[in-house]
Amino acid sequence: MSGGGRIITPRPLIHSGHCVRTQWLIRSIVAALVFLSALPANADTLEARLAPCLACHGANGQSTIPEVPSLGGQPAFYLTIQLLMFREKLWVVEPMNQVMQGLKDDDLRDMAVYLAKLPPPEPPAGPVDPARLERAGTLIEQHRCNFCHNRDYSGEQNVPRLAGQREEYLVKALREYKNNTRRGYDASMADVLYLISDEQILDLAYFLSRLR
Ligand code: HEC
Ligand code: HEC
Repeated sequence: MSGGGRIITPRPLIHSGHCVRTQWLIRSIVAALVFLSALPANADTLEARLAPCLACHGANGQSTIPEVPSLGGQPAFYLTIQLLMFREKLWVVEPMNQVMQGLKDDDLRDMAVYLAKLPPPEPPAGPVDPARLERAGTLIEQHRCNFCHNRDYSGEQNVPRLAGQREEYLVKALREYKNNTRRGYDASMADVLYLISDEQILDLAYFLSRLR
């Protein structure tokens, strides 16, 4: 019977000890969970969500990949509209349509505001062909590019920055407006390009990509 007593007696001890240990364990687990959940939460910050974007577009606002546009200094409103168009597949570009899926309007706006604050891209160094610059200058006056895109081509509202953008991306964009494969938010660019030849597109892109 004493053995039974011994068994009974330790029971509450073990039980209460177990309780204390359990409480400690639960507190540790809760603390660990709070800590762990803080990690994914951090990974979910705007910067973390933009990391894959900037791997393509350039972390300092300047793309180093052909046909991937620089985003630094683009007006936030223009960026928001384009991101929305990618999400809704109104502008069809495989990687962009994919990365935008599941993002809310607020996400798009937050991303756009962040990207707009990155430094504008630097034009490439090296000698320039004055004849090409002059030809482009005449075209720009004729078609009033700097009326909509701002005097310094920095863009505003729904009109993008062009200064310092990658040359081959500008060529691609202008060709796609001309052959109607890129549907803009509005028809301004299709109208503008109606009377512009492919040779002139090359001169315009040459000029714009070399502006600071
Ligand atoms: C795999 C590379 C890649 C990734 C990742 C990527 N992009 Fe893009 N993005 C592109 C390409 C290529 C284009 C140009 C499409 C074209 O040819 O017209 C583009 C276009 C854009 C444009 C339009 C820019 C302009 O001047 O009109 C924006 C804005 C943009 N991306 C933002 C983002 C954001 C935000 C993310 C992340 C959520 C992202 N991109 C992820 C490749 C990428
Ligand atoms: C009537 C106003 C207007 C005029 C004039 C105009 N643009 Fe635009 N441009 C826009 C708008 C608005 C957009 C954005 C369209 C969209 O949503 O895709 C745009 C987009 C562009 C883009 C795409 C940039 C990017 O990051 O994807 C290029 C390149 C461009 N314009 C070049 C030119 C050139 C070169 C001229 C002159 C020959 C010109 N634009 C004249 C309004 C204008």
